Amino acid sequence: MNSTVFAPWDDPQEKPLIRFRNVTKRFGDFTAIDNLSLDIYQREFFALLGPSGCGKTTMMRLLAGFDNPTEGRIELSGQNIVPVPPNKRAVNMMFQSYALFPHLSVWDNIAFGLRRDNMPKHDLADRVEEMLKLTRLEKFARRKPHQISGGQRQRVALARSLAKAPKLLLLDEPLGALDKKLRQDTQFELMDIQEKTGTTFVIVTHDQEEAMTVASRVAVMDEGKLIQVATPDRIYENPESVYVADFIGDVNIIEGRASAQGEDTYRIDWAEGQAPLLATSPRPFSDGDTCHLAIRPEKITISADRPEDAANAVQGKVHDIAYLGNLSTYHVELASGAIIKAQTANTRRISRRSFTWEDPVWLSWTATAGVLLAN
Ligand SMILES: Nc1ncnc2c1ncn2[C@@H]1O[C@H](COP(=O)(O)OP(=O)(O)O)[C@@H](O)[C@H]1O
Ligand SMILES: [Mg+2]
Repeated sequence: MNSTVFAPWDDPQEKPLIRFRNVTKRFGDFTAIDNLSLDIYQREFFALLGPSGCGKTTMMRLLAGFDNPTEGRIELSGQNIVPVPPNKRAVNMMFQSYALFPHLSVWDNIAFGLRRDNMPKHDLADRVEEMLKLTRLEKFARRKPHQISGGQRQRVALARSLAKAPKLLLLDEPLGALDKKLRQDTQFELMDIQEKTGTTFVIVTHDQEEAMTVASRVAVMDEGKLIQVATPDRIYENPESVYVADFIGDVNIIEGRASAQGEDTYRIDWAEGQAPLLATSPRPFSDGDTCHLAIRPEKITISADRPEDAANAVQGKVHDIAYLGNLSTYHVELASGAIIKAQTANTRRISRRSFTWEDPVWLSWTATAGVLLAN
């Protein structure tokens, strides 16, 4: 790994590999992609995330050339690729079903596109061997797709997609057919292969954890628009909207009214009979503005006694406990009926459950633990 941080999007000198410029795609009078602009850089592992129907596959199809935009330009290395047919683009797409040829061996599946391009025999054999090695499939070269496991089939599809050395590989739900454990192993393999080949990957996934694991940047989409494009840690720690905070991971959203309380600090009046909350925010709010405090359950401490000097402390009783092996999530009901979730790590192997149903507890957090959002 290079020790310098990979962040070409922060470098104004850097030219993007892919550029969407005010791209709109309509199907009849339905707008699937809505005036969208986006830059993706070489060697990125870029993830598209969003609810079903938000336009992820349409974005991929536009990149692959299976569809053309109604308006706008799509550039690859500075050239408008809209008029370029799919087979003439340095772009390949790996489908969820893998679409392997069942009657061809692993070797011949990988060789298929190279043969169609009339690659000289010797070069072709070298290239297939290289791809087999990259995806650790050397031992399975002579097998047919039905004679190998699901994870191996996924690797064959990947090897075949990379054989022609595309500049851009599109992966639409590439791991959707694999079970959880295999999926996680395969995520690391994908990252490794992506790094070794230096290919730019754009992946669609409905699994937010997967996106957070593999991606250099994540785009959260809704209704044909980009809501936020940022690194996984920024998306998680600094969501710019309630939509993004809520889409990624577990979060408590507390709605209230803001009023200034010193520099970058706000007091939040949020419920009848509850003491106001305190939160810092670089985003300015005017007195009386509606605000939403987004706070992750793992940032909230649960205790039997009222903590001293906590910026925020609320009292409630344990309503529900979700035990997740190494973590426990407590759903705490406040007097108002609101539920706030707090998560603790179970450090001991057989942890003594500190709290049980109906226990009165305190929840506390610092003024910097959450993110204050307008909407
Ligand atoms: N060929 C098409 N004709 C009409 N509507 C389409 C077509 N392709 C996609 N759509 C619509 O565009 C929207 C986005 O679809 P899609 O990109 O497949 O979503 P996603 O992959 O995010 O689930 C959906 O509402 C879908 O019904
Ligand atoms: Mg889709």
